[in-house]
Amino acid sequence: MIRRVRVIGIGMGDPGHVTGEAARALATVDVFLVADKGDATSDLVAARQAVCDALIPEGHAYRVVEVTDPRRGPDAERDAAAYDRGVRDWHAARVDAYADVIDGLTGGETTVGFLVWGDPAFYDSTIRVVDALVERYASRGVAVEHDVIAGISAPQLLAARHRIPLNRIGAPIHVTTGRRLLDEYDPGLGDVVVMLDGHLACAGLVDAHPDLELFWGAYLGSPEELLVRGRLADVLEEVREVRSQARERHGWVMDTYLLRRPLDEPVRSHVGASAPPFPEVGELSDGVVTVRPLVAADWPVVQGEHNNAESLRWAFDDERLSDPAARRIAAGAAREWRRGLAARFLIVDVASGAGAGVIGVIRMGPPGTGLVGYGVLPEFSGRGLTTRALRLVSQWALSETDLARLELGHKADNVASGRVAAKAGFRAEARLSNRLPNADGTRSDEIYFSLTREAATSAGEDDAST
Ligand SMILES: C[S@@+](CC[C@H](N)C(=O)[O-])C[C@H]1O[C@@H](n2cnc3c(N)ncnc32)[C@H](O)[C@@H]1O
Repeated sequence: MIRRVRVIGIGMGDPGHVTGEAARALATVDVFLVADKGDATSDLVAARQAVCDALIPEGHAYRVVEVTDPRRGPDAERDAAAYDRGVRDWHAARVDAYADVIDGLTGGETTVGFLVWGDPAFYDSTIRVVDALVERYASRGVAVEHDVIAGISAPQLLAARHRIPLNRIGAPIHVTTGRRLLDEYDPGLGDVVVMLDGHLACAGLVDAHPDLELFWGAYLGSPEELLVRGRLADVLEEVREVRSQARERHGWVMDTYLLRRPLDEPVRSHVGASAPPFPEVGELSDGVVTVRPLVAADWPVVQGEHNNAESLRWAFDDERLSDPAARRIAAGAAREWRRGLAARFLIVDVASGAGAGVIGVIRMGPPGTGLVGYGVLPEFSGRGLTTRALRLVSQWALSETDLARLELGHKADNVASGRVAAKAGFRAEARLSNRLPNADGTRSDEIYFSLTREAATSAGEDDAST
C-alpha cells in the first residue's frame, strides 16, 4: 500500500555522483519505478541499476519495476503548441502506467522511488508526474507524501569538467533547449547553457556569432566522456564529427554545452541589432527638476501618470495600467537601458523630492533617432516641470548618446503637449492625418515635432551668447 514517493536525483550514472542524502533515501525505497524507453537508452537503465547495486545495503530488499514508457511522436515535426500538447498527453499516459504498478504493490511495499537522471529540477518531468500521482491518490482518499532529493545535473558536471563557473561575474545564466536556441539567442542573455539538443542547434549561430566560446560535453560522468572547448566557428566541425562518431558507437548521444560571449564583444540585442547601450547616467538637474533613470520601485508613478483623466483622454484606448503592467515597465527599464532600447527617467520635483512623472526616449528604426514621451501626475501639472524635464533629457540624449534626432508627437487637440514641446525647443514639422487612434474608435491627426542635434547645439550657443 503506497504511503510515500521519493524523487531521487542520482547524478550522471556514476555512483560517486550520488549525494549522501540521496544514498540514504535509496535505502528506504521498496519499489523503484524506472521508465523503459527502448533499446537506445538501455545503458541508462543499466546505470541506474548500478547505482542501486552500489549504494543500497545488502539487507534492504527492493524491487526495480521497468515501466514501458508510452510512445511519443517525433518532436521535430511539431510546432510549439503541438509539442506542448504532445508532452502533456505523454505525461498523462505515464501517470496511468505508474498508477497501474502502484495499485499492485504488496502490503509491505509502502515507499516508491523514482531515480532521476541528473537533478530532478532540470528538464525532467518526474516531479510533475509525481504531483499528478499524489493528486490522483488524494482524490481516492489515500494520502501519499512525497519528497525530492537533489542530484548533480549535466550543466554542473559540464562546468566542473571544463573547470569553469557557468556565469561571468554577477551576470546571468540562461538555460534552454536546442529547440529554442536560435529563436531566443541574444548576447544580452549572458552565458547560455543548451540541453536537449539533438541537432547541434548552435551551428545556426556560427555566422552571426562566430566568436562565441563553446564548452561542449557528452556522456559526462561516464568513462566515455567527451569534451571540446574553443571558438564556435573553429570547433564546430570537430564537435559535429566527434558527436556523430559517438552516436554510431552508442546509438544515442547526450550532450550539453555552454555558449559564452567573448568579454570584449558589446552586448547587442536582436531588437535594434545595431543599437549601442545607452550610457550610464546618474541625475540630471536644473535645480527645480531632477530626472534620473527609472527603477522598479517607481512603478506607482508610472501607473499614476497613465491612469488619470487627462492622460486617458489622449490615450489610444481606455485601458488602465494594471499594477503588474506598471511594475513590469518600471522593472524592465534598466534592461532596456542596457540594451539601448529605451532610456526611461523618473521626473523628480526637487522642492518636495517626490516622483512627479515620467519621461523617456525610445530608440526608433532609423539609426540615430529616438521618440520622446512624457507626462506628469495631475498634482504636478501646470508648473512647467515637464518642459524642464524635456529640456534636460533631450539635451542629454543629443549630446551624450548616439541619437542625432529626437521626435515626438501629440494629438492635434492636445495643445498643452505641443506647448511643452515648443518651449523645450522642438519644432513642429508636420500634421499627420488620422495617425493616432482614440478610445472611441475614431482617429486623430498627429502634430509631429523634432529636435535635431544641430538645432539643439545652435540653440545652446544662442543661449550662451545672450
Ligand atoms: C531530459 S534532460 C535531463 C537532464 C537532467 N535531469 C540533468 O539534471 O542534467 C536530458 C538532457 O540532459 C543532458 N544530459 C544528460 N546526461 C548527460 C550527460 N551524461 N552528458 C551530457 N549531457 C547530458 C543532455 O542535454 C540531454 O539532452
